[in-house]
Amino acid sequence: MATLAASQINFTHQPHPSPVPVDVRDAALADPGFGKLFSDHMVSIEWSEDAGWHNAQVGPLTAIPLHPAASVLHYAQEIFEGLKAYRLQDGTMALFRPHANAARFNASARRLAMPELPEDVFVEACRQLVAADRDWFPTVPGGSLYLRPFMFADEAFLGVRPAKSYKFLVIASPAGNYFKSGAPAVSLWVSDYTRAAPGGTGAAKCGGNYAASLVPTAEAFSRGHDQVLFLDAAEHKWVEELGGMNMFFVFDDGSILTPALTGTILPGITRESLIALARDEGLTVREDRYSIDQWRADAATGRLVEAFACGTAAVVTPVGRVTDPHQGEFVIGSGGPGQTTGKLKDRLVAIQRGAAPDPHGWVM
Ligand code: COI
Repeated sequence: MATLAASQINFTHQPHPSPVPVDVRDAALADPGFGKLFSDHMVSIEWSEDAGWHNAQVGPLTAIPLHPAASVLHYAQEIFEGLKAYRLQDGTMALFRPHANAARFNASARRLAMPELPEDVFVEACRQLVAADRDWFPTVPGGSLYLRPFMFADEAFLGVRPAKSYKFLVIASPAGNYFKSGAPAVSLWVSDYTRAAPGGTGAAKCGGNYAASLVPTAEAFSRGHDQVLFLDAAEHKWVEELGGMNMFFVFDDGSILTPALTGTILPGITRESLIALARDEGLTVREDRYSIDQWRADAATGRLVEAFACGTAAVVTPVGRVTDPHQGEFVIGSGGPGQTTGKLKDRLVAIQRGAAPDPHGWVM
């Protein structure tokens, strides 16, 4: 099967014939929110059994024609990534750890029986889109250009087996804050639903995992909470993750804990980066199990002083309170942002934006 390396890839370029007018674009960039606004271009690459990866294009952002029998519409063979491009202080543009996203994308592809995309092609596709839409960086403080690479099965076939043709696309969405509330700390609703079971797809970034989280997320919203918290499937006891973020806990001895990657949790790149930064600061970081009962008890005694959620979209977001439908509400620390959370967030953001040295070589 033919495969492409980035050095062989020849992206054809077709500029958008009628890009968003500059005044409309610039007004939108002042307050983009999250996921609502899209830049002028997209990248697309096709895969077929005969030709492997081929037909790489940077072209206008446009609707995608799909046969009604396309496998993705029936059996959800789809995976995605989320990564951000930043405008650095000197005006240049940077991607944060794109190779880590490329590697995770391929891990998801393997789990969903999809073809792997060479890592350097994934990264080059992201780079090409940022270059094409360089004028789409938000002007709001903390803004970034959120990239959404994704792949889906587009073979018209209703039998249940891996498809024989796929499309890989990258779109870009100028992003401000993920949480609309702007509250200093978010509140969580502990769901009775399960996100992922052992042996399932919990560690893959596939659309199906997020589809399954929508009812619990809607329930959390309708009860006035910002996010849903999922516990493990087997015992409904151990903290796993939120609707689209990993969790961290900070204790009164300064140590940090995050749920271990058991196969049912998404291996977050922000999660991994924060573990490294915390260790750089000399903090003890444990990846271990943590039960909701222990969390409540530790919050009550003051042993637990801070909790935060993290992800590409959410960055680092303090968690102030948790409501369990069976046990009621508890508050963590002051219920607002804590010092360690703030320090780790500042360290991460400074590296991402080129305002601090990058000891791990994460910025490209
Ligand atoms: C991300 O943080 O990039 C995510 O994928 C979370 C969510 C927006 C799906």
